Amino acid sequence: MKIGILISGRGSNMVAIAEAVRDGAIPDSDVAVVVSDKSKAPGLEKARELGIETVVVTRKKRSREEHDAEIVSELKKHGVELVCLAGYMRLLSAGFVRAFPNRILNIHPSLLPSFKGLHAHEQAIQYGVKISGCTVHFVDEHLDHGAIILQKAVEVRDGDDADSLSKRIIVHEHAAYVEAVRRIAAGEIVIKGRRVNTKAITHDD
Ligand code: GRF
Repeated sequence: MKIGILISGRGSNMVAIAEAVRDGAIPDSDVAVVVSDKSKAPGLEKARELGIETVVVTRKKRSREEHDAEIVSELKKHGVELVCLAGYMRLLSAGFVRAFPNRILNIHPSLLPSFKGLHAHEQAIQYGVKISGCTVHFVDEHLDHGAIILQKAVEVRDGDDADSLSKRIIVHEHAAYVEAVRRIAAGEIVIKGRRVNTKAITHDD
């Protein structure tokens, strides 16, 4: 399975996926390209160090649709079959979503549907929840909304701030994202509307 990863920043989730592909933890896959909308995203250098081709597609003064069309064409040019958003800070247009039906994933640092959008850790702390975590989900054109593939819970401790909570959650993000991509690469999931289930593996299979 050819994977394309979209980043805007540091790219630690991208590195986790790329290393899992390299080490065989995600089977029969290849990270074909890393695309960034920011030319200075620190993750770009990390991708190059891992030997992955990188492409920068900035928005310039174009519409969202035009920008997305160029990204889709780069992904298609590289034969991408699964798109992973990893700290990609833009909402995808309907055209982008339609180009990869049920083939775009995102990771968000909260237990969705709570605390969508920016500053999820801060939102969780301000609300006073005792448990937060991360969510890997399919992407549709609404913010942090598509069907949930998997979630990991993380305790919010007294005295946590956004920084300390994010440091505890990010470790689980890396594991969750790798596991979600592995399940998709292995053909282990079944999608029924909003419900994403793990295929029952029986001895007759
Ligand atoms: C992560 O917390 C992810 O959940 C959110 O943006 C952050 C990206 O971190 N969508 P990184 O660039 O993968 O290190």
